[in-house]
Amino acid sequence: MFSSASPTVSVSGVNIPSIGYGTMLFPEPEKAVTLISEAIKSGYGHIDTARKYGTEKWVGEALRFTGVGRENIWITTKVTEENAKADDFARSVYKSLQTMQLNYVDLLLIHWPQPKIPLSETIGALIKAKQDGLAKNIGISNFTVDLIHKAAQISSEQLFTNQVEYHPYINQDKVIQACKKYGISVTCHVPLARGVVLKDPEIIKIAKSHQKSPAQVTLKWLIQQENIIAVPRALSVDQIKENISLADFSLSDEQMDTISKLRSKNLRIVDPEVRRPVWDLP
Ligand SMILES: NC(=O)c1ccc[n+]([C@@H]2O[C@H](COP(=O)([O-])OP(=O)(O)OC[C@H]3O[C@@H](n4cnc5c(N)ncnc54)[C@H](OP(=O)(O)O)[C@@H]3O)[C@@H](O)[C@H]2O)c1
Repeated sequence: MFSSASPTVSVSGVNIPSIGYGTMLFPEPEKAVTLISEAIKSGYGHIDTARKYGTEKWVGEALRFTGVGRENIWITTKVTEENAKADDFARSVYKSLQTMQLNYVDLLLIHWPQPKIPLSETIGALIKAKQDGLAKNIGISNFTVDLIHKAAQISSEQLFTNQVEYHPYINQDKVIQACKKYGISVTCHVPLARGVVLKDPEIIKIAKSHQKSPAQVTLKWLIQQENIIAVPRALSVDQIKENISLADFSLSDEQMDTISKLRSKNLRIVDPEVRRPVWDLP
């Protein structure tokens, strides 16, 4: 049971809070433990980190600082594509747990596809982490339609989520449909498009009509969709609280459609040349 202020998404009977706190970049690292602790105290029952972010240590410290019961918080971490070989993968998981001082994570993801290593080897290592009790659930991140099919067919275990870029300015219909076929949820990274969508006149107009902020409307638009989870980052206590306070309003079908049409802007923010797969065309 996760003591979260947000609703949950269920995959094979396992519930994850639909809003998690993203920890990718803290411009002032000395504030990281305070911010993560504030998120936990504000009702986030789900924290998103990764070996690559360098924030696992602070996540572990915040858990201990707040005294939140381990069973009350969902922790996701990820193994980078540099560690896609089975031995490296296992070492990375071990280091993540050691860094956070945890016995297990709730969700372990392959952070990016690695074309140089057979996917079956990496998926095998992912499954082994689950079978060894180091991860309660397993999944993928930045996987395209073709790779989702391959991963789901290789994996003997349910894949819990595919964490991909999703916000109002990008069309992810194909990825969402492919995930649905295998009962895989979709977790949105950069759900606020790093602030870009918050200046959109349509989003601002809808926000005003609900007396909510553009960030709240954007996050509501995401989690009001079936099997969608979002992990916004916020760097002030006010923003942290705002992003989890979504329960007292809902968007009409017309408002959902208006925001969905903004995908024609076709903005992809996370597109690193060194590791991006060949993205699906909209
Ligand atoms: N799997 C992957 O490959 C991958 C890739 C990228 C990210 N992620 C995950 O996704 C998380 C979120 O992505 P992100 O951090 O890059 O971007 P984001 O959540 O889209 O944007 C975060 C920024 O939005 C602004 N913001 C947040 N809440 C706000 C509010 N209530 N009002 C106004 N502005 C607000 C803040 O900007 P200011 O600070 O300028 O105000 C904040 O720094 C990451 O932290 C990470 O956990 C995963």
